[in-house]
Amino acid sequence: MHVELYERIWMWIGAAIVVLFLGSILLPTAMYAIHPPSHIETLDPTAIATHPEFSAPAVTTHPDGRIVVSVVASMFSFNPDPIEVPANRPVTFRITSEDVIHGFEVVGTNANAMAVPGYVSQFTITFAKPGEYVISCHEYCGLMHHAMVGALKVK
Ligand code: CUA
Repeated sequence: MHVELYERIWMWIGAAIVVLFLGSILLPTAMYAIHPPSHIETLDPTAIATHPEFSAPAVTTHPDGRIVVSVVASMFSFNPDPIEVPANRPVTFRITSEDVIHGFEVVGTNANAMAVPGYVSQFTITFAKPGEYVISCHEYCGLMHHAMVGALKVK
């Protein structure tokens, strides 16, 4: 089959753009560990007051040494606040919301998730640098969204 030169050039340009776009997704995934959440766990957002874990969200050290931080986001604060975790140890965050969609971002780190009512967002991260970090809500959640911040102390 004969394909005109100009047609071939445009086919190569089209193919190059597809490769470029796919690369712009795959490269950050591989280099910066940026990926969509894959943890699917649901709960009843209207029954958080009686939930075994989220009725009293806290930092807990499990018998096997895992550090788990349960967080409930609500208009317009995070509970617990402040959160205290050790440096250089993997910490698993489990986050949910009891009203609307909130964000949970530890500013200056890779810790970033959405807090969606009815779902538990979970990720594990190790903080290498001790210090005080700001936790910010990055989903518009109401009139006081801009004031929804928390503190994370890494010791
Ligand atoms: Cu919570 Cu914005």
